[in-house]
Amino acid sequence: MAASRRLVFIGGGNMAEALLRGILAANRMRPQDILATDVRQERLAHLETAYRIAVSSDNAAAARQAATVLLAVKPQHMDGVLAELKDAVGEGHLLVSIAAGIPTAAIAARFPHPVRVIRVMPNTPALVLEGVSALAGGSHATPRDLETARELFEAVGNVVIVDESLMDAVTGLSGSGPAYVFLIIEALADAGVKAGLPRDIALTLAAQTVRGAARLVLETGKHPGVLKDMVASPAGTTIAGLHALEQGGVRAALINAVEAAVRRAQELGRR
Ligand SMILES: NC(=O)c1ccc[n+]([C@@H]2O[C@H](COP(=O)([O-])OP(=O)(O)OC[C@H]3O[C@@H](n4cnc5c(N)ncnc54)[C@H](OP(=O)(O)O)[C@@H]3O)[C@@H](O)[C@H]2O)c1
Repeated sequence: MAASRRLVFIGGGNMAEALLRGILAANRMRPQDILATDVRQERLAHLETAYRIAVSSDNAAAARQAATVLLAVKPQHMDGVLAELKDAVGEGHLLVSIAAGIPTAAIAARFPHPVRVIRVMPNTPALVLEGVSALAGGSHATPRDLETARELFEAVGNVVIVDESLMDAVTGLSGSGPAYVFLIIEALADAGVKAGLPRDIALTLAAQTVRGAARLVLETGKHPGVLKDMVASPAGTTIAGLHALEQGGVRAALINAVEAAVRRAQELGRR
């Protein structure tokens, strides 16, 4: 049967909505190309009203309608969802999973025939179209499948393609990373308040400084060390601040944070 839609979301929660919004805003698809399912009627009503897409509470029937099935439920719900999809997903389907910690092989093993699976680790800035998503292809996924997935996730930010063995490293860096940066922004704003700035102004200065510095790295392609040296004048204020950061062990603390999160992702993956 020819697919009547281009994309089905299984699970219409936060991440699915962020992707949906990005895909429509970037004109990658039209609302009539997309269908979403959920177990919550109020989510379906919201998605239907806000984005004019089709909705359903029947995962298997929905999957039969589209070539690309995007699995966007929480990892603990994946087992049940894959059982429902077992007979609905055929060799013509592409499965794209954003469920943290579930390998493509574990998904493929639930089907009696070979299925093409792509695993993605997005992050929450996708909600404002500034995410970064790492994509990894499973054993049956083709380069074309990776391109299909890349086009979807580029609608909510940057995309990198990695070997699946690196997904725990991605989780520890960019998956958990927004929380590290929130903590840094909060601390910078506290420092501004301590130096006499009103809280709202301190927070704006801190957050925009982080955004601007990140854009300078991405848009100039210059090494962050080079950009740092450019603003640190001899005997100036910045080098004094940098010295204090090094004394505080910030570099080692961030490396330790990522390392701890990677270890935790590995532990959760072994369960
Ligand atoms: N948010 C992130 O930053 C982030 C980052 C990377 C990866 N991810 C991954 O993205 C996935 C989705 O995360 P999320 O934050 O978008 O979660 P979410 O907001 O909870 O969305 C999942 C939705 O699916 C619904 N659902 C549960 N069981 C279902 C079923 N059998 N069939 C259809 N829908 C079902 C949920 O309903 P109930 O609420 O009633 O269960 C919920 O509305 C997760 O696997 C997560 O690991 C998220």
